[in-house]
Amino acid sequence: MRLVLMGGSLRPASLNARLLDYLAQTLEARGHEASPFSGEALRLPLYEDGEAPTAAIQALHAGLLKAHGLVIVSPEYNAGIPGHLKNAVDWLSTMKPSPWAGLPVLLCAASPGAFGGARGLMAWRATLANMGALALPEAITVPQADQQLDAAGAPTDARTAAAVPRTLDAFLALVARLR
Ligand SMILES: Cc1cc2nc3c(=O)[nH]c(=O)nc-3n(C[C@H](O)[C@H](O)[C@H](O)COP(=O)(O)O)c2cc1C
Repeated sequence: MRLVLMGGSLRPASLNARLLDYLAQTLEARGHEASPFSGEALRLPLYEDGEAPTAAIQALHAGLLKAHGLVIVSPEYNAGIPGHLKNAVDWLSTMKPSPWAGLPVLLCAASPGAFGGARGLMAWRATLANMGALALPEAITVPQADQQLDAAGAPTDARTAAAVPRTLDAFLALVARLR
């Protein structure tokens, strides 16, 4: 299956970008095509009505149009969506054809905090529902991610580690069903 992964923060040491890399490798190891958009690829101009999308925005749009599913790996900022990711979504929501309608989405988050970014994912669900994307009910969250992600981005806590393949299986089943 063709999958896009979008997320991480803009800082080079982003825990979410590390988790995103791990998930991309895991999906590729399972035989899927995984196209990551993180870090500088998401340093986009602020959306402004009437401005033309840049090449980076067009690349993201084209990637999503081809994708069978999207994996979002989002930091939580003040219990919500970080500005650079919301900005990317806003750009994409103005482009035709819509990449969002009917797109299956897996939500993931990593945070040094106790809730693993779960509150931010609630904000994502509202935004995705507004655009007609289909977020999987389950999600991957990594609490204490500053201690519980190894160098490759794999969760080290046994419960979280076990949740990853289970949640990926559920997501891939949804993607296959909708394809
Ligand atoms: C502006 C701002 C707001 C934040 N708000 C939250 C929050 O609501 N919940 C949380 O768990 N962490 C919060 N954090 C901490 C982030 O989870 C932490 O910085 C994390 O490492 C960001 O993800 P990254 O490692 O991918 O950059 C916040 C950080 C910033 C900079």
